[in-house]
Amino acid sequence: MSELKITSTIATNQSISVPLLGLGVWKSRPKECYEAVKVALESGYRHIDTAAIYGNEADVGKAIGDSGIPRSEIFLVTKLWNADQGFDEAQKAIDVSLNKLGTDYVDMYLIHFPVSGKRKDSWKALEKIQKEGKAKSIGVSNFMIPHLEELLQDSQIVPAMNQVEYHPFLQDLPLKEYCEKNGILLEAYSPLAHGQKLEDERVTRLAKNYNKTNAQILIRWSLQSGNVVIPKSKNPNRIKENADVYDFSLTPEDMKEINHWNENFRTCWDPTTVV
Ligand SMILES: NC(=O)c1ccc[n+]([C@@H]2O[C@H](COP(=O)([O-])OP(=O)(O)OC[C@H]3O[C@@H](n4cnc5c(N)ncnc54)[C@H](OP(=O)(O)O)[C@@H]3O)[C@@H](O)[C@H]2O)c1
Repeated sequence: MSELKITSTIATNQSISVPLLGLGVWKSRPKECYEAVKVALESGYRHIDTAAIYGNEADVGKAIGDSGIPRSEIFLVTKLWNADQGFDEAQKAIDVSLNKLGTDYVDMYLIHFPVSGKRKDSWKALEKIQKEGKAKSIGVSNFMIPHLEELLQDSQIVPAMNQVEYHPFLQDLPLKEYCEKNGILLEAYSPLAHGQKLEDERVTRLAKNYNKTNAQILIRWSLQSGNVVIPKSKNPNRIKENADVYDFSLTPEDMKEINHWNENFRTCWDPTTVV
């Protein structure tokens, strides 16, 4: 896996490839977010993950615009918020997001959460949004197997990606296998367990062995697991650190060890009980 690079991409099922590493901007306040996106783009990131509910789409858009990097070289993701779900509402919501982002398309538009009674109509809207060219690809987030089964039964387009919480301490292998079987990429959000497992002594031991940081071990594990990964930082040094994961690779033995660390440790919302 040492051939992985910051520019590495993976093909989706929708004629577009996604850079494996992206910058997450949840909880980045507007000014911080602008600076974070600028530093990330300068450091070689080409994938930014925002959402309508994060309240920072305008700052993401401005940082992209000011970067001087052609829009076509940046993979920009935003998400449909729960209160905007539904066929008509979703079509209005994408226009609001595009306006804030200062662009006429996103590279991927995701349903943020599988809201009961709404998600099917939202997906139909996303299919239309893609046909209209407002989103180059469409996908979902926080969808568990039953939500995906329901969606696949009744849709024209298979989601390109499912963005879910995924890190060594929360590994949902049946979901990962289901996604793989159906050609849906798994994207790992909160890959650092939202910062709550960085002091784990097993991570610290591996970090010392590789002369890397604890965060770098967790990000490298995600990449070598074949997941798209979007660590968040508002700190310029840590943004660079999180992308400095291409000069080493975890051995098969260490990957195997980490693969056994699952403890269903969830830091964000729990979609498993949503019917
Ligand atoms: N779809 C969804 O429902 C959903 C839910 C959650 C997250 N996400 C996406 O996934 C992204 C990442 O997830 P996340 O923000 O929950 O958590 P994360 O990336 O797992 O961890 C972020 C936390 O770790 C800290 N951190 C980052 N790099 C570090 C480093 N090298 N050393 C030490 N600490 C470091 C950050 O603090 P500093 O900022 O101070 O560095 C922050 O407190 C989000 O920003 C968002 O884009 C999506």
